[in-house]
Amino acid sequence: MASILVLNGPNLNLLGTRQPEVYGSVTLAMVEDACADHAAKLGLEVACLQSNHEGVLIDAIHDAKGRHQGIILNAGAYTHTSIALMDALISVEIPAVEVHLSNIHAREAFRHTSYISKAALGQICGFGAQGFLLALDALAAHLKGAGSA
Ligand code: DQA
Repeated sequence: MASILVLNGPNLNLLGTRQPEVYGSVTLAMVEDACADHAAKLGLEVACLQSNHEGVLIDAIHDAKGRHQGIILNAGAYTHTSIALMDALISVEIPAVEVHLSNIHAREAFRHTSYISKAALGQICGFGAQGFLLALDALAAHLKGAGSA
């Protein structure tokens, strides 16, 4: 069974209480449970990790090689700054989908740039926690070979 790593970056442990008007009232635990349920319906399994530390996220991407067939990444603010995370994703050559709860393109200009996008199959943003489930759908299709145009 294919395994997907669901990786969340800085401040996403605070989901549910952090700016709920922007990020919603769903907690990270609820997001991770929903991912596990949705993945099971798609015949996938998930492993979930959240860290506030860039190096931990990079190590998790490296460790995914040979263990996970896809990565869903919400890198939080590292999205807009981290060439290192981009390089890690490119290095492991694992298909990745970038997720953001908010529509980063409708927010401050500094959120419009994503280094993660340069290494991802695509980006899903603006759909709240549902975005993680859409990302699972996209990866499932991609892994079946139906994702390429
Ligand atoms: C975020 C958007 C980022 O700009 C922000 O720094 C986050 C959350 C999102 O999910 O909408 O921490 O990635």
